[in-house]
Amino acid sequence: MRILFTGGAGKAGRHVVPYLLEQGHRVLNLDLKPLDHPGVDNLIADITDSGQMFNAMTAYAGFDELEPGTGTPRFDAVVHFAAVPRILINPDNETFRVNTVGTYNVIEAAVKLGIRKIVVASSETTYGICFADGPRAPKCLPLDEDYDIDPMDSYGLSKVVNEATARAFALRSGFDIYALRIGNVIEPHEYETLFPGFFARPEVRLRNAFCYIDARDLGQITDLCLKTDGLGFQVFNAGNDDNSVALSTPEILARFYPGVPVTRPLGEREALFSNRKIREVLGFREQHPWRRYVSP
Ligand SMILES: NC(=O)c1ccc[n+]([C@@H]2O[C@H](COP(=O)([O-])OP(=O)(O)OC[C@H]3O[C@@H](n4cnc5c(N)ncnc54)[C@H](O)[C@@H]3O)[C@@H](O)[C@H]2O)c1
Repeated sequence: MRILFTGGAGKAGRHVVPYLLEQGHRVLNLDLKPLDHPGVDNLIADITDSGQMFNAMTAYAGFDELEPGTGTPRFDAVVHFAAVPRILINPDNETFRVNTVGTYNVIEAAVKLGIRKIVVASSETTYGICFADGPRAPKCLPLDEDYDIDPMDSYGLSKVVNEATARAFALRSGFDIYALRIGNVIEPHEYETLFPGFFARPEVRLRNAFCYIDARDLGQITDLCLKTDGLGFQVFNAGNDDNSVALSTPEILARFYPGVPVTRPLGEREALFSNRKIREVLGFREQHPWRRYVSP
């Protein structure tokens, strides 16, 4: 597929884009900064500018596309990862503005230009625990896609709004727009640098509900979204099978979530940030469990 990928130079994108290239896709990275990776075309553009989004989605991806003399090829899909990726980087109103206006612009341009597959980055923070003021217990566990999401911070709220934007455009167009509630992204080198701390002090993972997603497995999930058609608007948790600590799931529940209702039986190591839907609907099979790279 010929894919326009926003935010490909970021922490997640620099692993997801190479994964998509390995699957045979062509990728144009649209970002404020380039991704220096063989085979990736770059376009410096700002998602908060609607005109730039319409323009980018009708542009050549590289000089080679001038050769056939048949005009600009169409994009088959848009993958939208560009964002301010958390609170406390920019003022809250700016985080909200960039993320919501940017996502509106990207989805609107894609839909109005007839690009029928759109994948957008939502976030685990929609569940309202990550950036809550004070410790906040979930209403129930595991966290799955039909949970009543209710964040109190500007970033999590921007992602809730983006899911509503995606849903509105999917309803209106009949196109497929899938929102990935991405868990805490772990790059390959971070198993060594971060996980020993998670094993020693599991409470540091409470705000993430103990979730993680390997950046390469996120590539697989994104590719599965591109390959799976006809689902309309969908929300998928994007997480790995296990929790990011050395405790079993019953141990985590007993130690950190006394009194929180558990809505279904859980496996010995089943993630509390449930990835059941991507496994059952998309056929996700994790390739990079943390146990492959680090031992407690
Ligand atoms: N990293 C995580 O743990 C995590 C977890 C959940 C969700 N997410 C979401 O996944 C996506 C990718 O996250 P990341 O960690 O790679 O973030 P990142 O900040 O590393 O990358 C985001 C990219 O977006 C680009 N960008 C920002 N504003 C832009 C603009 N106005 N126009 C064009 N490009 C712009 C940045 O230059 C950057 O390259 C984001 O949507 C983020 O909210 C990330």
